Amino acid sequence: MNHISMNLVTMMYLIASVCFIQALKGLSSPSTARVGNTFGMTGMAIAAVTTVALIVKLQEQASATGGMGLGLVTIGVVAGGGIGTYAARKVEMTKMPELVAAMHSLIGLAAVCIAVAAVSEPWAFNIATRDSPLPFGNRLELFIGTFVGAVTFSGSVIAFGKLAGKYKFRLFQGAPVSFPGQHMLNLAAAIAIVALGLVFCFSPGVEPAWTPFIIMAVLSFILGVLIIIPIGGADMPVVVSMLNSYSGWAAAGIGFSLNNSMLIIAGSLVGSSGAILSYIMCKAMNRSFFNVILGGFGGDTSAAARGVQEQRPHKAGSADDAAFIMSNAETVIIVPGYGLAVARAQHALKELVEKLTHKGVIVKYAIHPVAGRMPGHMNVLLAEAEVPYDQVFEMEDINGEFGQTDVVLVLGANDVVNPAAKDPKSPIAGMPILEAYKAKSIIVNKRSMASGYAGLDNDLFYQPNTMMVFGDAKKVIESMVKIVD
Ligand code: TAP
Repeated sequence: MNHISMNLVTMMYLIASVCFIQALKGLSSPSTARVGNTFGMTGMAIAAVTTVALIVKLQEQASATGGMGLGLVTIGVVAGGGIGTYAARKVEMTKMPELVAAMHSLIGLAAVCIAVAAVSEPWAFNIATRDSPLPFGNRLELFIGTFVGAVTFSGSVIAFGKLAGKYKFRLFQGAPVSFPGQHMLNLAAAIAIVALGLVFCFSPGVEPAWTPFIIMAVLSFILGVLIIIPIGGADMPVVVSMLNSYSGWAAAGIGFSLNNSMLIIAGSLVGSSGAILSYIMCKAMNRSFFNVILGGFGGDTSAAARGVQEQRPHKAGSADDAAFIMSNAETVIIVPGYGLAVARAQHALKELVEKLTHKGVIVKYAIHPVAGRMPGHMNVLLAEAEVPYDQVFEMEDINGEFGQTDVVLVLGANDVVNPAAKDPKSPIAGMPILEAYKAKSIIVNKRSMASGYAGLDNDLFYQPNTMMVFGDAKKVIESMVKIVD
């Protein structure tokens, strides 16, 4: 390992990068996701081992770290790997977005720390000698890396708090935080950051211009907070994927500072895939990306979220009634949502569907792109229960079928079937929904009449052909399984 050549390092990084590309390709479909994950893990293992070997080599050559390099890397790998393994094993599926936000914050912070180290001791990074100034290109790279990293860090911390929804701190509440002149303040901060960054880039001399650099970094941390606080809970999926994209670009920035081709490739892959995902999610919610960043969606919903809800008549039935209606239907569409994930009812659901199918009922699952709390959440749940992929349909493929369907069973879903999206005055106006309201009869299972994630009441629950079945999704489905013979 001590004598690894630079050619071998480049070759290993190339193999790791190909693995990452294959990982993304695999993750594009539930049937190949496992293979994709294996590619990702293999690529990361190759990259980590190669990097450790490279550090040992560079340490031998330059003694830049005073002989502590390998020890520090080992501490980092053991501590980081240990915490990561513990967190990933412990985290519930429904808490995944918070974990992802927390990890993005660490990538952002790492980018800032590396940039500060490179500005402070550029010779250790082979980007300048002890008595020559940092070249302009490197300064620019470090300025952009610090800016993106700092915004990613503080923005992700706020997103984490909002997603966790259990902290009293006002900025961590799901409801947007806005004040007069907010957009102007953001603009002023952005202009100041660019101006200070340019002062840092153009300052002559061997000593770096620390004052503009530090003020620029502090303003970037503040801007990260300012950008995320006005964004309401309902837009958080887009925010998380946007921060995912930023963290990728921050990693690519670190790659330039460290002259590490693999980090540049992996960072760009994360950056661009996050940007594409943000675009897809914005489309799924009929929101413009710019609109999300400027914030406000979800603002009207805070009153509803606090429980201000009118009492309207609705029809309620039991699990037995639901089982009877579904057994006698010819076609059934099941709409899974966040509640199904919370209840972990996917295995019981699969059993119910098997029984119905056995009786000759045609059953399909309809998946909304933002059902649940993260992209692909419902697909992962159903795949976990080994639901056959040919029963699972994306929104655009199944929406035309609701009108001819006998029964729609909405399981712990709310916003994704809310017809309010058709009302131009609603905060979710224009968001594409699964058109469950068109079915001949609708059965909705949830625990109460409470609103969903966006905090809006749902007219579907009050339709004359809708029957509410209250209770935990798993218990309700298990009761239905017992009834259907
Ligand atoms: P929601 O609108 O959040 O509705 C889920 C419903 O499940 C709630 O109304 C809740 O009602 C019910 N529920 C909770 N626990 C339950 C249980 N144990 N058994 C039965 N029902 C239970 O979910 P959705 O329709 O899936 O929509 C997703 C929402 O989350 C959208 O607003 C979307 O924008 C947002 N979001 C999505 C993502 C992504 S990328 N997928 C990420 C973050 C946020 P009760 O309390 O009455 O039971």
